[in-house]
Amino acid sequence: MRHPLTDRFDGAAAVIADIEQRVADTADHAGDTHRLIDAYHPKRLRLAISEIIEETETTKTFRLQAVDGAVLPPFAAGQYVNVFRDGTSRPYAISSSPANTDHYDLTVRRVPAGRISNLLNDTVRVDDEVVTTGPMGTFHHNPLFHGEDVVFLAGGSGVAPALSMLRDIADNRLGRRFHLLYGSRSGGDVLFRDRLAELVAEHPSLRVDHVISDPEPQWIGRTGFLSAETIEELAGPLAGRMVYVCGPQALYAYALEQLRALGHPRRRIRFEANGAPSDPAARSDWPADSDPAEEVTVTAGGLTFRSPRRRPLLDALEDNGIRPEAACRSGECSLCRIRVRRGQVHHAEEARLRLSDARFGYIHSCVAYPITDVELDL
Ligand code: FES
Repeated sequence: MRHPLTDRFDGAAAVIADIEQRVADTADHAGDTHRLIDAYHPKRLRLAISEIIEETETTKTFRLQAVDGAVLPPFAAGQYVNVFRDGTSRPYAISSSPANTDHYDLTVRRVPAGRISNLLNDTVRVDDEVVTTGPMGTFHHNPLFHGEDVVFLAGGSGVAPALSMLRDIADNRLGRRFHLLYGSRSGGDVLFRDRLAELVAEHPSLRVDHVISDPEPQWIGRTGFLSAETIEELAGPLAGRMVYVCGPQALYAYALEQLRALGHPRRRIRFEANGAPSDPAARSDWPADSDPAEEVTVTAGGLTFRSPRRRPLLDALEDNGIRPEAACRSGECSLCRIRVRRGQVHHAEEARLRLSDARFGYIHSCVAYPITDVELDL
């Protein structure tokens, strides 16, 4: 049968024939193909905690190795794995070097009401097993588009992917200039201080500046926030440079404002996905007259339950024992995509929906909120 695209685009017939041939080739080696995909992009990894490093009073680094001692799938510096625990999951950036695939380091800071981060800090011991996804995420250097002179604005534990990127440059002898501007509340909150200093001392293309907002009396470095003035003074002209941003949610709006004040274009700024909005109803696009605390009825997976409007549907489903596939929990990866059969749902702006999703009623449940009673197809 003639493909409908053939008449609409020059060359479509050749492209379609090529795709069909590749699909046929793949079918001939389906077993090998699946083994290769499982090795490089496994859905799940069984890992054991081989070491726990106390970074600060509130932060630990967990070193994870395959339970069978196997080499782990490769990753790009900046990627994360999703850790499953307590009926839910959370993504944590890998802070170790991509040059060492015998382990992943995950650096986890305690946060108020942080269900999984606090559970990991309080209960996980050496030799415990953890189930994760394989490495995921798009927050990594792209040599085609990001250039070889980059700036990274980090806040708090958002420095974890920056450390992995710095280690990548050092271990793989990449000719990239990398300037980390790292904001912390106090000197005692600074993570990886010695390791960052060692990397900078050994590699002239790397630079790290600490900026402390609430310094101890003995702090002698830079103070304040990652303001436009501070960024300009420390990093110099940003023109043509990619700026990565990773940290607490409050940093994102603040950093965007400061970078815009410096005239830096939005396309030269990369934000790491960072969870569902902490207060979706505080956003200007929250539907007027919808009390975020009021409960609505959710029907899904053969169950019917009540949940407040402000609770993301993914969390509401997990609360009731329903576990859709999920990873980023930030609207980006699309793994938690489900269909709304009936009812009205509000999406946070983080949702990276395909054009066809709205047409066919699909949502990213991690950043979607039920405004009316809803019925979902899982
Ligand atoms: S879990 Fe990634 S988009 Fe929802």
